[in-house]
Amino acid sequence: MSLTFTVRRAVLADAAALPAIERSAAELFRLDPSLGWLAETEVPEAAQHLLAIEHAFVWVAENSDQEVVGFLRALEIDQQLHIEELSVSQLCQGQGLGRALVLVAIEHARQQTLRAVTLTTFRDLPWNAPFYQRLGFNVLDATPIDQHLIEALQAEIAIGFPGERRCAMRLPIP
Ligand SMILES: CC(C)(COP(=O)(O)OP(=O)(O)OC[C@H]1O[C@@H](n2cnc3c(N)ncnc32)[C@H](O)[C@@H]1OP(=O)(O)O)[C@@H](O)C(=O)NCCC(=O)NCCS
Repeated sequence: MSLTFTVRRAVLADAAALPAIERSAAELFRLDPSLGWLAETEVPEAAQHLLAIEHAFVWVAENSDQEVVGFLRALEIDQQLHIEELSVSQLCQGQGLGRALVLVAIEHARQQTLRAVTLTTFRDLPWNAPFYQRLGFNVLDATPIDQHLIEALQAEIAIGFPGERRCAMRLPIP
């Protein structure tokens, strides 16, 4: 397996590859049997990715064969970059692609002089909150949480996520 990959802004032609990547990425949740259902949940279709590529921020990671194997989708909300989705194909996980995608998003936020990067995630899965913490994100427990993060957490609970295992995180941009 190649360790060579590049991260770049997505173009419209990338959209078709993204649903399969998100499905493949979600297979990882089967490691926790109570979250196995996430691997069977419907993912956004290519048409929704097209809209995001045009109107929001999508970066992709591609391997040395120019195959797209990971992506990060984010929205700018209230001077902050909110990461909505991060997925890396199962066979390509654990090689630094996820970290590289998050670092590109953070760099974008810095260049745009945004206030912070935010996201919601699982507190206790090793590839979720602990990973973001190592990149400098803080769990927002005691701090007042932004409205968009409250809404994101509520929407997740509404579709069955265990609320006590979810958290909002923020990386302030100095
Ligand atoms: C999260 C995800 C995108 C990370 O992608 P990746 O390419 O494997 O990321 P990396 O190789 O850069 O590893 C990221 C971190 O997770 C950890 N990690 C990755 N896979 C792991 C696994 N199976 N078990 C435990 N830890 C794991 C690594 O130790 C790494 O931490 P470090 O960079 O501080 O050493 C990927 O695991 C994925 O698609 N997961 C399913 C969807 C998901 O959880 N998305 C995030 C929603 S907030």
